[in-house]
Amino acid sequence: MSRKYTITAALPYTNGPIHIGHLAGVYIPADIYARYKRLTGNDVAFICGSDEHGVPITIKAKKEGVTPQDIVNKYHAIIKQSFEDFGITFDNYSRTSAKIHHETASAFFKTLNDNNQFIEETSKQLYDAEANQFLADRFIIGTCPKCGNEESYGDQCENCGTSHNATDLINPKSAITGNVPSLKETKHWFLPLDKHEDFLKQWILKDHKKDWKSNVYGQCKSWIDDGLRPRAVTRDLDWGIPVPAPGGEGKVLYVWFDAPIGYISATKEWAKREGKDWKPYWKDKNTKLLHFIGKDNIVFHCIIFPAMLKAEGSYILPDNVPANEFLNLEGNKLSTSKNWAVWLHEYLKDFPDQQDVLRYALTANAPETKDNDFTWKDFQARNNNELVAIFGNFINRVVVLTNKYYNGVVPESSDFSILDEETLKTLSAYPEVIASSLERYRFREAGQALMNLARLGNKYLADEEPWKVIKQDEIRTKTIMFVALQIASALATLSEPFLPFSSAKLKTILGFKNLASPLNWKDISAKNILLPTGHQIGNAELLFSKIEDHQIQAQLDKLEASRKINEAEDKTTTPQKDMITFDDFTKLDLRVGTIIEAKKMPKAKKLLVLKVDTGIDVRTIVSGIAGSFTAEDVIGKQVTVLVNLAPRTLRGVESEGMILMTASEDGKLVFVNPDASTSLNTVANGLPIS
Ligand code: MF3
Ligand code: ZN
Repeated sequence: MSRKYTITAALPYTNGPIHIGHLAGVYIPADIYARYKRLTGNDVAFICGSDEHGVPITIKAKKEGVTPQDIVNKYHAIIKQSFEDFGITFDNYSRTSAKIHHETASAFFKTLNDNNQFIEETSKQLYDAEANQFLADRFIIGTCPKCGNEESYGDQCENCGTSHNATDLINPKSAITGNVPSLKETKHWFLPLDKHEDFLKQWILKDHKKDWKSNVYGQCKSWIDDGLRPRAVTRDLDWGIPVPAPGGEGKVLYVWFDAPIGYISATKEWAKREGKDWKPYWKDKNTKLLHFIGKDNIVFHCIIFPAMLKAEGSYILPDNVPANEFLNLEGNKLSTSKNWAVWLHEYLKDFPDQQDVLRYALTANAPETKDNDFTWKDFQARNNNELVAIFGNFINRVVVLTNKYYNGVVPESSDFSILDEETLKTLSAYPEVIASSLERYRFREAGQALMNLARLGNKYLADEEPWKVIKQDEIRTKTIMFVALQIASALATLSEPFLPFSSAKLKTILGFKNLASPLNWKDISAKNILLPTGHQIGNAELLFSKIEDHQIQAQLDKLEASRKINEAEDKTTTPQKDMITFDDFTKLDLRVGTIIEAKKMPKAKKLLVLKVDTGIDVRTIVSGIAGSFTAEDVIGKQVTVLVNLAPRTLRGVESEGMILMTASEDGKLVFVNPDASTSLNTVANGLPIS
């Protein structure tokens, strides 16, 4: 049955590019699903856009000394382009700074406000007096009341996923100044979730107990069991959508209030462009609304947004929210700030025209029921052992042999053998097999089913060996090739959601454009013949190519570089001494000298008495380096000498300067070793220091 599907993918925050975690968790499954629904004849609106409000964007802007708008403009462009290049088929990719979104979100708020769906409350909120600012969400860090994570944000703990109010945090600190915040009165609008408790209990815990994924259902249940409380939907902030109500001056809508409404605004924008009516996609009870998200978004899409939609009254509710768990990378948590990621825009540069490989590897490893790990070795193996060795190999043999034996014309079949019949029967069941996995949001299973179809083809050729049979039986060979060509055309059609670029290429190779009517998903089971006798196919072309070890190594090296940088940054970099000014530094008179004589100081373990030729004079310097060097070691060495250090007498010998030392990588004491023997009275930036 054909119906309307409104499929949304979480609006990505616009403070960084897209990485494989986002792809595996949200955008690839959503795109597979949207493509599949279109292929099976449904009316799909696949909606996404940039989530451009919220505190992290303002923090990043502050750090970089630019405006929040600059930040979102930059990343919106990168993200939009990379999705497009990767083959994600959004019908609209909008953004929440768009005018239509500000209007839509504002009107939504007004409707709820006019219908008394909010509680207005003046309460004490955390305030940073030094920054002269209320501390919303990510401006506060403290201990999570639920799991004890000491670095929980004000609105959500990234460790346990719990969403809370900033005032719930234990030991809160301002992320701006590090100060302990004070409490100050401010007015806000609250959505009384407690009033929607009965509805949510019925709708989630009863109506959707069976069809929602257990990870999603479980999180919702624990939230509801904990007791629902009113949630503030406004913030004291100057970046966002102004609160359209008296007393709302200087306040904006909470980002998690406006962002999901972004799905609606983006649908409106799209409908307008296409000359359609947006309303049936959001208000027709027969439309299926689906939200593809990561697990950290569950409460917002399953509890808060539905409560908003319910309170508004005229919208449909999501039919399903197939949230995924998280993807790790080479054993560690993906992290934007630590650059522990595979960035989509970089992947597209490093592996041009290999979008399908990443899509396939991430589908095969999707974190559907638990967190999962992406490794470059697995990526290589998925490509070389599956895409190249099974799928590509089968197609290549079929196309090459058809061209060689029949000039690319599909031969006629005569009587089918039992194996032929069985193979064609198995083939015709594949659309159902794959669809049944997709309908249950099991994308890994669906992707593997597709590869099994290629396996079927490969095995058929290996068993039937047309390259041998042709020597004795030309008629039988024609039948074998006919059957193999049917499998190839089923693969071309069914692979579209999983391998869209390769599917398009394969359709060209198989001459699909010469078919009387295009093959669709259902034809694979409904039609007996997919490619008829006499149909002309094109030349062979490689669908997939091997990924070499050095390409994988280059990616691992990139990650290794990030790991090293992170390690260095983790080591305390707090300065051990007070800061000095440039003027302080210019007081130092540093010269290059040569040690021309060295003797051990009698009865002192650590001291050497040196004579150093500085070019202007020869000085006596007592140096505490005998633990690391003998007198013989140092004679003739070039050293850097601080010559204007006030003289000091050590064990009766006056020392007239200081030799500069430092530690080498392995911790050994070494001289600050000049390259040239000129006087060091200029520094790197060229400014004279004396
Ligand atoms: N920007 C959020 C995130 O990346 C997702 C927002 S989804 C929406 O986690 F529903 F609010 F749009
Ligand atoms: Zn926690």
